[in-house]
Amino acid sequence: MRTVPDATGIREGVRMKVVFGGPIARPQVLEVLRQFPGVDVLAVDEADDVCPHVGDADVLVIANPRDKGRHIAEALGSPACRVKWVQMVSAGTEGLTAHPLPPHIPITNQGGAAAPAVAEHAMGLLLALTHRLDVALKNQAAASWNVGALRPLLQSVEGMTVGVIGMGNIGRELALRLRAFGATVHGFSRSGESNEAADAMHRIAELKSQVSSLDALVVCVALVPQTRHLVDAELLSLCRKTAYVINIARGESVDSLALDAALREGRIAGAGLDVTDPEPLPADHPLWTAPNLILTPHTAPMGNKLVGRRVAAVVRENMQRFLEGRELLHRVEL
Ligand SMILES: NC(=O)c1ccc[n+]([C@@H]2O[C@H](COP(=O)([O-])OP(=O)(O)OC[C@H]3O[C@@H](n4cnc5c(N)ncnc54)[C@H](OP(=O)(O)O)[C@@H]3O)[C@@H](O)[C@H]2O)c1
Repeated sequence: MRTVPDATGIREGVRMKVVFGGPIARPQVLEVLRQFPGVDVLAVDEADDVCPHVGDADVLVIANPRDKGRHIAEALGSPACRVKWVQMVSAGTEGLTAHPLPPHIPITNQGGAAAPAVAEHAMGLLLALTHRLDVALKNQAAASWNVGALRPLLQSVEGMTVGVIGMGNIGRELALRLRAFGATVHGFSRSGESNEAADAMHRIAELKSQVSSLDALVVCVALVPQTRHLVDAELLSLCRKTAYVINIARGESVDSLALDAALREGRIAGAGLDVTDPEPLPADHPLWTAPNLILTPHTAPMGNKLVGRRVAAVVRENMQRFLEGRELLHRVEL
């Protein structure tokens, strides 16, 4: 019986085992994986749940682990481990890649499958803040027209200069949407190299010297040690009083307590967070009562009908490439 091609390095006559874990694009990805002959699929609920199964897997297909990334990384590093590739179905991979990993196992991610949806959510937060839907909803609940209270708070995305920190898949999609609304986009990346989606590009190292020229800044970077608390008390102190701060990437890239203080002291106009640190935000965290803050519970890509299909297409393409011994797409920098 010849089950999987030799290119995988899996012995002839042995079926290949893929362990899948996590809620992202679950039905679509499972359907794709089950279409490959010679492949056995074990599905567990969460990425963390793959831990006990790493020892007898050939491939892991997982979301970003929440608590057990270190244990998964340790299992991947065990000499007996036969895993040859880890496909992450998320964009962020830090739950696993923050831990030491054996360099011979490629880690790939979803390659921007959720980027249009996340960019749309960032636009939603910015539009809700500039048009002060938070205040309008409170007025509505109190059956109060109260236009006088709203008028001085209102802004418009058209004519704004918006800083997009991180011009990866999400940053580029966001820049396109912002420009369609008439904003000027200043992109920030490590290199500062020109990017056709932005009107101007800067190095992330220049953020502090540039931030006073921005009406809003949107965090779109991966979470790595260098981007932890990228938005800190000092950066917030340099922002315009009328500026908005949005984070749709990872909570730890913004210093939560510094943001809370800036909001309470009116040093910025408001903030929109889809991600928090810690996450989920505990009921007694000060951010719950911070003024001018719109919080969504890490829902940015949810509800989009195309995300699951795009994630599944990435898994299908990479699985095909893996079986044929070809280079995998969307490799994560380690
Ligand atoms: N809210 C949600 O539900 C949701 C959904 C999807 C993704 N996310 C988050 O959004 C992040 C970005 O997603 P994406 O699809 O745009 O990822 P991506 O295309 O891989 O882009 C990663 C971005 O992170 C930057 N980056 C990487 N390493 C860095 C470092 N050492 N220092 C500074 N910047 C660094 C890159 O900057 P360069 O341009 O300099 O390379 C790039 O802009 C993900 O990592 C994930 O955490 C959140």
